[in-house]
Amino acid sequence: MDIYEKIISLAKRRGFLYPSYEIYGGEAGFYDYGPIGVLMKNNIENRWRQFYLIKERFFEISTPVITPYNVLKASGHVDEFIDEIATCQKCGASFKIEDLENEHCPICKGNVEKGKLNLMFETFIGAKKKEKAFLRPETAQGIFINFPFLYEFYRKKLPFGVIQIGKGFRNEVSPRQGVIRLREFSMAEAEIFFEPNNKKHPKFKEMENEKLKLITEKDEEIFISIGEAVNKKIIGNEALAYYMALTKKFLIDVGIDENKIRFRQHKKDELAHYANECWDAELYSERFGWVECVGIADRSAYDLKAHMEYTGVDMRVFKKYEMPKKIKKKIIKPRMDKIGKKYKEKTKEIIKKLKEIEIKEKIEKLRIKIGEEEIELDKELFEIEEVEEVISGEKFIPHVIEPSYGIDRIFYFILEHNYKEIEKEGEKYVILSLPASIAPIKVGVFPLVNKDGLPEIAKEIEEDLRKNNIIAFYDDKGSIGRRYARMDEIGTPFCVTVDYQTKNDDTVTIRFRDTTEQIRIDRKEVPTWIANKL
Ligand code: GLY
Repeated sequence: MDIYEKIISLAKRRGFLYPSYEIYGGEAGFYDYGPIGVLMKNNIENRWRQFYLIKERFFEISTPVITPYNVLKASGHVDEFIDEIATCQKCGASFKIEDLENEHCPICKGNVEKGKLNLMFETFIGAKKKEKAFLRPETAQGIFINFPFLYEFYRKKLPFGVIQIGKGFRNEVSPRQGVIRLREFSMAEAEIFFEPNNKKHPKFKEMENEKLKLITEKDEEIFISIGEAVNKKIIGNEALAYYMALTKKFLIDVGIDENKIRFRQHKKDELAHYANECWDAELYSERFGWVECVGIADRSAYDLKAHMEYTGVDMRVFKKYEMPKKIKKKIIKPRMDKIGKKYKEKTKEIIKKLKEIEIKEKIEKLRIKIGEEEIELDKELFEIEEVEEVISGEKFIPHVIEPSYGIDRIFYFILEHNYKEIEKEGEKYVILSLPASIAPIKVGVFPLVNKDGLPEIAKEIEEDLRKNNIIAFYDDKGSIGRRYARMDEIGTPFCVTVDYQTKNDDTVTIRFRDTTEQIRIDRKEVPTWIANKL
């Protein structure tokens, strides 16, 4: 068994992950989180909130999964969110072209025909109208289309960030990497809106010495501080670099091995349709090699502009200059008498139109449209005058920097990077060295033996821990060694054991998962002691 098989087997046995629909033969690209898995996934998402909601001060929103056709037509997903595929003419199997080694089907060696597949799952809204819709391919669009409300909410001040955690869907052609390539997956995304020429972060200075391993678009590998990378224009702007460094901090915090993180820049031809620069945080797997787990992209004004053009809703913001600016402007001064004489009742309309025109260069003739009619005005019908105007600000479409996290992949990599096999007294067992904040169960509580009042005391301690919002698990089945081993295997960082000494002095042992060391503390102090460790 390789590492992936060992983890998937442990995950199934201990309730982290179950292959979806297994009793119906299974369905590739879907995984269920079991009772232990949900606890751990929630912990990862809540740590992510600690970073983005608490520390970055972003607010979270929640928008529907089902997305009307027009939204994703505007965003470019209908036309661009496409994989090149090959379909076998003999057995009907489909593959991504990039996964195919030659022109024949890898299953039956039949000839393949090339085609395209839009990766979005299609559905319909309502029974009668048959309005076409899709399951969202990213949570980001839900944030973009709410931009006008969110801008109001943030009191019309840039920059601001909005987050969303939820399901995304991609109908992958033939996912064969188990939990690594899911068709329904959880994503945590932050969309941060900036002034186009001011993509900076107030805490960049605190972060500028953080070093990252980068693989640039020229395939150069460098280990460099983000400050230097921005100075040398390797990373396009401070905000992008800041969120790359923050991503590394988050990944280490949730238990990813620091030496197995790198940031790879997308080459021009692999950029998503909306991105003009993108760095993937890739994590190393003994089974899969380097795998993209987070994408940190500069989406420029792409999405807001697209929704503005499609709906006509103004997504621009107004920025007041610190000092009003005086600008020189050439305007048209109509010769009223002459226009009146020539165009009679159309004069009013013509004058109105002329007022809207801004002149950049010398002109001899003016062409305007009144309704369907084109009118050409000769030089003697107007004069050009240079005037000075005071303007107080300008309008622009904000730019977006987006860190987008694939929660399921991060979940898997936390398991892989913390999986350890230990041999003790001839027996092999597994320790998952999860950070305490990520561990699904925080404390195992055991009576040393199943008699003499020890179980009753242990149950009271477990109850006490739960009253303090700490997930504790009482266990009195099997030898104490087996009970410790069961907790180690799901990453429980502490075990509290009630023994005969407890009855004398009210103390219990606390055992540490990674060192198996034990200390004794007063049983009343257990909840506070554990809470401090979390
Ligand atoms: N929102 C980024 C992505 O879907 O990959």
